[in-house]
Amino acid sequence: MTVADQYNVTEDEIRFGRSDEERLYQALFDYWHPVAYSSQLGEDKPISATLLDEQIVLVRLDGEVRAFRDLCVHRGTALSLGWVEDESLRCAYHGWKYGPDGMCTEIPSRFGTRIPKRARLTRYAAAEAAGLIWVCMSGEPRFPLPEFPYRDDPGFKVIEVPSYDWNCSMPRRIENYVDFAHFAWVHDGVLGDRDQPEVPDHGIGRVGHELRFDHPHMAEPADSGKNKGLESDGRPVDVQIDYRLFMPNTILLDQSIPELDQRYLLFFTVCPTGRKTSRCFTFMGRDYSLDHETDRDMLDFNALVIGQDLPIVQSQRPEELPMDLSAEVQIKGSDRVAVEYRRWLKELAYST
Ligand code: FES
Ligand code: CO
Repeated sequence: MTVADQYNVTEDEIRFGRSDEERLYQALFDYWHPVAYSSQLGEDKPISATLLDEQIVLVRLDGEVRAFRDLCVHRGTALSLGWVEDESLRCAYHGWKYGPDGMCTEIPSRFGTRIPKRARLTRYAAAEAAGLIWVCMSGEPRFPLPEFPYRDDPGFKVIEVPSYDWNCSMPRRIENYVDFAHFAWVHDGVLGDRDQPEVPDHGIGRVGHELRFDHPHMAEPADSGKNKGLESDGRPVDVQIDYRLFMPNTILLDQSIPELDQRYLLFFTVCPTGRKTSRCFTFMGRDYSLDHETDRDMLDFNALVIGQDLPIVQSQRPEELPMDLSAEVQIKGSDRVAVEYRRWLKELAYST
């Protein structure tokens, strides 16, 4: 056995040391990540998802979501091809049956009932919250699940945006979502104005497991799809936007208009499917214009914005967000959120 095998590291890591980005990727095993919308998982069929380069199977057994490695210990078949039977998961290949704890309870091809002890699945911590299924691979999440206020408020309408996959790391995707300086350039006329590109300084701080900051007062086109349904009669309104970034992968944007007593929320969370790949989940919520037409307008608007971001973010190199602040050039004030996010990620990378 080589030294590399013994310590589960690569030869390069022994020669050059483990990079911050490699450490962060390892550390992510200790946090909750979104893997699917709750609405995607029915009662009778399991589904597969990918988290941190591992294929997992999600299934509802005994009224709870369970997550296992998507691999039958008999012959390595994907259990997501199987089905639910008697509150157990049946493998599609030879019909082995696994209970809610992952223990094999039935091997149909054998005479007798003895089950080998090793016939059990690798199980992960799973939870259902905020309309999503969350998994923590280490089984001991360091931070609690993110909060989604108003979601169950009867006066509030929440729509689910189809999930999408990008070829970028989870932190690059998250950072892009809270990067104020790009609105005027990438989203000119949509979220920003190229003639007024300055980002005023704004407050930011840590509260528990969150980074909290508000939106600097920047010009935003009044007739953009985002604000279309507002009952403002076209008058300019004073908008207050607060952000909560639940470390390391979830953003809640809370836009309120005190004058009109109206609220708009974006809940955005990103699954690190691999080191350089992400799956993004979004809910859009509001307590005004609750009709279907506004749903469609909002989805179209969201599609427009992410379509503008896509080529930019997928082009960024290195694909993994550099946590060493000297690796890229930071601008005081306008890059403040990114700087604080990178700092905190680095702490997470070294706190395992
Ligand atoms: Fe699953 Fe044989 S591979 S039962
Ligand atoms: Co953008």
